[in-house]
Amino acid sequence: MFLNIDVDGDWLNRGMRFRRFTEFILNEKYAGSKKEEIMDKGKNLEDFYNIFPWDSEPESESGKAYYEFTGKMMELALPPEVLKGIKKKNLDILEVCAGAGFGGVALGEYLKKKGFRVKLLMTDLRGDALERARKFAKRKGLEVEVKVMDALQLKNLKQKFDVVLFWGLSTPHFNPHELLRLFSSFAHLLKRGGFFIMDEADRRGSIFLKTGYKFALGEERGGRFVMSFHTGYNPYTGMFRRRYVSPDGSNFVQEIYLWGIAEVSAMLSVFFKKVKLLDISAHYIIVSQNPFTGISPENIKEPVIERLK
Ligand SMILES: C[S@@+](CC[C@H](N)C(=O)[O-])C[C@H]1O[C@@H](n2cnc3c(N)ncnc32)[C@H](O)[C@@H]1O
Repeated sequence: MFLNIDVDGDWLNRGMRFRRFTEFILNEKYAGSKKEEIMDKGKNLEDFYNIFPWDSEPESESGKAYYEFTGKMMELALPPEVLKGIKKKNLDILEVCAGAGFGGVALGEYLKKKGFRVKLLMTDLRGDALERARKFAKRKGLEVEVKVMDALQLKNLKQKFDVVLFWGLSTPHFNPHELLRLFSSFAHLLKRGGFFIMDEADRRGSIFLKTGYKFALGEERGGRFVMSFHTGYNPYTGMFRRRYVSPDGSNFVQEIYLWGIAEVSAMLSVFFKKVKLLDISAHYIIVSQNPFTGISPENIKEPVIERLK
């Protein structure tokens, strides 16, 4: 999925900064397949998020607004009447693709206010974002651990969790084969009675129908703006290859999958008996319970491609 890029001096410096953070965390908390592979994937994501307008600083104005919004979403996902049904007081939470930790910290703070004792494990491939997530969680008084790991290697986690959280519209990083594997892992990682929570958008509607997509797409968030241009498509994985260009001229290639809410909720219904979809003005929260664990991530194989002349 990830492509090599030419690095200029500035990117190289950022790369070294990233390496220091990630090496630091990996030394202690390494949980994945090959260390170098994880470092490369993480470095690629770090470069991408340096120009893509996504909040990764909890103390910034837009970061605070995103955190507040996320807190309200968590209350909708697990409202007080649902919390009343949880008999235990100690909850283990796993956040996958946590970035700077907005989702996990918001959920942790909410549950703590409601009288639960929360242990939070946040994972991502970006070590520097996780370091911010760890400090953020500490400032909120939460018991926290972070792990640099590939979400596609969740089988390396031996623990089970009361809540598995996949927050922040992270699905475009995964092709359908990978997302199925992820959903299967989430089902396997839940304790009995546990909850899986994610948010999702309908990109087919919002991008293809409302905006138009093919040649240029502008995206703005928290006062940051980026344009992206179509540069390629892989029909076997469904991944679009786009070049992202920021107003300061820096640019970066990334492969993404434009998920819609229909296929994401349909795929989840294979792994969970109950899939609830909350529509909050075209931002969706999905809460799933009662996992089916018959299909393991290893059972989900990519197709064998045969080209006929
Ligand atoms: C849209 S951001 C969401 C971040 C955060 N959850 C939030 O709400 O701000 C997607 C995150 O997924 C992470 N990511 C992408 N592919 C990943 C993978 N294969 N394994 C682990 N993390 C990944 C990125 O580094 C990024 O932090």
